[in-house]
Amino acid sequence: MVPLLRTLSGLFLGGLGARLVGLLGRFHVGPEGKPRKLSRRGFTRNAAMAASGVVLAEVGAGFLWFFWPNKTGAFGSDITVSASEIPAAGAEPVRNTAGKFWLVHNDDGLLALYTKCPHLGCAVPFVPNGNPPFQCPCHGSQYDINGVRVAGPAPRPMDYMPITVDDSGNAIVATGAITQRSGYEPSQAAAV
Ligand code: FES
Repeated sequence: MVPLLRTLSGLFLGGLGARLVGLLGRFHVGPEGKPRKLSRRGFTRNAAMAASGVVLAEVGAGFLWFFWPNKTGAFGSDITVSASEIPAAGAEPVRNTAGKFWLVHNDDGLLALYTKCPHLGCAVPFVPNGNPPFQCPCHGSQYDINGVRVAGPAPRPMDYMPITVDDSGNAIVATGAITQRSGYEPSQAAAV
């Protein structure tokens, strides 16, 4: 996607430059196609137009730059958890700090739970041997291993992030696609 955007914007800016050069060239050709002598006024006008063109191209390039994702491997982008870092089925969840999720390995596969509490946004810790295992310290919301609320003021389960598992067994977590839900469904987990 990014190379395509770069190619398109390059074509656009290149086309813009070519049109500008063609436009300026027209001022230097007389009615019979012979080169026209450039007056001081003409030179000033051409210089002003060229400068404007350069400024416009820079502004356009800066504008397009905003649409290019610069962050990779950070919250909001796809984050890869290598196969060796994936917890075994039934083991303690693994926290991914950059991606702000808990990676749970339940009977259905891998489930990425957004650490932000759906009540007022505190980070929900995992409590080893806790019953239930996720307990928000702020107002006491509690969640089971699948992030489903079992107590407290939270209005819904912990949100989750879709996961795909590649051929090498790595889990790719879409941290930009945080999804709300009303309960746990096996389809929320990615089979491994
Ligand atoms: S922020 Fe978690 S219970 Fe209020």
